[in-house]
Amino acid sequence: RLVETSKRLAAFQAVKDYLLPTYTRIGIGSGSTVVYVVEAIRELGPAVTSKMAFYPTGAQSEELIETAGLTLQSINKLPPGQMLDVAFDGADEVDDELNLIKGGGACLWQEKIVAASARLFVCVADFRKLSPRLGTNWKKGIPIEVLPMAAPRVLHELKLLGSMNPLVRPGLPGKAGAVVTDNGMWIIDAPFKPLQLNSDGIVSGVNGVYTVDDLAERLIKIPGVAEIGLFYGDHGLQIASGAQKPVAAYF
Ligand code: A5P
Repeated sequence: RLVETSKRLAAFQAVKDYLLPTYTRIGIGSGSTVVYVVEAIRELGPAVTSKMAFYPTGAQSEELIETAGLTLQSINKLPPGQMLDVAFDGADEVDDELNLIKGGGACLWQEKIVAASARLFVCVADFRKLSPRLGTNWKKGIPIEVLPMAAPRVLHELKLLGSMNPLVRPGLPGKAGAVVTDNGMWIIDAPFKPLQLNSDGIVSGVNGVYTVDDLAERLIKIPGVAEIGLFYGDHGLQIASGAQKPVAAYF
């Protein structure tokens, strides 16, 4: 299929451009696109990959690394002050400023920790993910990881901020209750009107229309919210923690 071909080509190109043979610490994200990233890495062969350690963003990503015969490491083993050389991950939507919506697969919290721990964060997606404004193509809403006991009040606060019908993400068909993340949390999907680019300079929060950074900063402050699926703010060389946007996106 066209979409799969697009994901595969983007993944192979991203690995070619951003995985230098001298790198030793690599972050691997979650989702169906990252499968091709790992395939591209594996094809480099043990001569290149045996000196590398791979840091996952959840259970799926862990399995992917192990099945490919690559060395699995854990982000909690990264010595303080040190960084991953590069991290690759997918996205649900990417805007013109490389802000991302992530968390369609419920892995956003660990994904953000790994992205913010990497000197270079590279996004790999297919052509359907690119849109000028977040929320234009990805209509399901911004994934927000929450403490289950706080879900009702977080839903209430999200409505006050202008979210249209935010919902706790239900479990897979046949499975009762909510989706439980790798961290024992729930996910709320909160749809908002398409977000403006930060460079647009609009007054934030008017009629529920926000810039990405403004909405992100309001969401992360809600008590009970563990992490949000907006990857925003500065990008580039990540000296202090908190940079979440990719330096490049491949489609
Ligand atoms: C996982 O929680 C997400 O952030 C994924 O990275 C995102 O959903 C992309 O997944 P696909 O590559 O399967 O589209």
